Amino acid sequence: MKLNGQRRWAAAGVVVATAVATFGVAMSAPAGAAPGCRVDYSANGWGGGGFGASVKITNLGDAISGGWTLKFSFPGSQRVAQGWSANWTQSGKDVTATSMSWNGNLGTNASIDIGFNGSNAATGDANPSTFTLNGTTCTGQPGTTTTTTTTTTTTTTSNNPDPGTKVDNPYVGAKQYVNPDWAAKANAEPGGSRVANQPTGVWLDRIAAIAGTADSRGLAGHLDEAVRQAAGSPLVIQLVIYNLPGRDCSALASNGELKATEIDRYKTEYIDPIAAILARPAYAGLRIVTTVEIDSLPNLITNVSPRPTAVAACDTMKSNGNYVTGVGYALAKLGAVPNVYNYLDIGHHGWIGWDDNFGPTAELLFQAANASGSTKANVQGFIANTANYGALKEPYFKIEDSVNGTSVRQSKWVDWNRYVDGLSYAQAFRNRAVQAGFDANVGVLIDTSRNGWGGSARPTGPGPTTSVDAYVNGGKLDRRIHLGNWCNQAGAGLGERPKAAPEPGIDAYVWMKPPGESDGASEEIPNNEGKGFDRMCDPTYTGNVRNGNNMSGALGNAPISGKWFSAQFQELMRNAYPAL
Ligand code: BGC
Repeated sequence: MKLNGQRRWAAAGVVVATAVATFGVAMSAPAGAAPGCRVDYSANGWGGGGFGASVKITNLGDAISGGWTLKFSFPGSQRVAQGWSANWTQSGKDVTATSMSWNGNLGTNASIDIGFNGSNAATGDANPSTFTLNGTTCTGQPGTTTTTTTTTTTTTTSNNPDPGTKVDNPYVGAKQYVNPDWAAKANAEPGGSRVANQPTGVWLDRIAAIAGTADSRGLAGHLDEAVRQAAGSPLVIQLVIYNLPGRDCSALASNGELKATEIDRYKTEYIDPIAAILARPAYAGLRIVTTVEIDSLPNLITNVSPRPTAVAACDTMKSNGNYVTGVGYALAKLGAVPNVYNYLDIGHHGWIGWDDNFGPTAELLFQAANASGSTKANVQGFIANTANYGALKEPYFKIEDSVNGTSVRQSKWVDWNRYVDGLSYAQAFRNRAVQAGFDANVGVLIDTSRNGWGGSARPTGPGPTTSVDAYVNGGKLDRRIHLGNWCNQAGAGLGERPKAAPEPGIDAYVWMKPPGESDGASEEIPNNEGKGFDRMCDPTYTGNVRNGNNMSGALGNAPISGKWFSAQFQELMRNAYPAL
């Protein structure tokens, strides 16, 4: 597997490039500097005559302002189908890409990433080898001379599916799979068509989910539909691997079918069959994102003895080692499939954001990434806030703020946490994970499905500075009673729509938890999925040590986890932020 470090920061690169360009223009380039440029072109095929190309343009000469034009010719049968970050046209074999309104300035040494999806009649077409930028041939050398040569800097990969190559951020330049079964439920709700076309996660939450059941499509069924939706373009399908032995040890609502000791069944009846299906040649062109085992490893840090928050089932999972063994096995098996991208769960800031939890979680994840024959190369990145409600950004108070000399860290809400929102947590955790040994180019997904906190109760400015609590409580967007509340939270709204590379270090905002699916039953409901009744889902519950003995904040009349909860879906749409 090859992880291309350069492209991890593609979106950030665009932002940086723009900033540098503006700077370069303002400062103006040294007089007399000659034009020069470098182009890095790479193409990856996905079979069936389709490929995706990334083109990185670096300006090695004078700052360019007011627009640029890139030209090259295809040696073979390639056609540009659909491009991004430039206006793309093709005449015969000649391709022209011109700048957009927002990326026409390119300072000295600044780069920009553009790209396109293409088709080709034959396999094995060579990549273009000569590029010009504003009429100057790109030699890869600074513009010390205006003499052109035909040498170019190219990164050539075949247009055939290359089992050794993964892109750095699978979400960039890709469509995403819309689960038709979720879309049908959303569409059946009044107003639901406004969101029904959003991509959501497919949860493989029990062995039977692999083959499918009477009321759920199986894995191959989803993948076949994904190939159809892809129609030859890059497409990300998001799967949730969620069936560890002794699952969800600190809660009851999502306990699973496998008992604490059933690690062999996990391997042979769950992970192996999934890996075998994902490896089928028919799916080789998909970008398969697997988020690995939500709510597992962080529990081994926070909910074990001798902590006051300890839960016996978590102590068991720590001592039998089956979370670590299972996660390592899943990473190794799934990661061996060339087009699978593994993202490990890192909880959320309201769980792992405290100093005692943060570093130890990063270290434990690294241990698991190297367990059961896995290596860190199997980890593309992490996912934060899965199925949780933590605000993405808290614009009206910062962790550095203080009120009358008292830090916001001392407020009841923050309670010494190091992070006030999901984005700052995810970015910091990424850095800490790299320190623990993970590759420098890992990226984070943030589940924004239900952390919008819009509607009329949303604050529009900071709280009063009469006390630190008044300041935090008056300004915070997250309106939960306590950060530790997690089940069907009243007042929540849909969050940021799924988006690729939205911030540095973040591969995507995703909707991994399908909005409208319950977190757990508000009262005991018998079922054959192993799911228990967790009183954190009961609106009358007065809490426990893990939520500071606060009310649960849950909605009433909720079905068991994973089942459709119409009233919650309606509220999520009403309180969506951005609004629908
Ligand atoms: C449940 C799963 C469900 C998932 C997505 C989890 O809490 O335990 O059964 O598929 O949520 O809704």
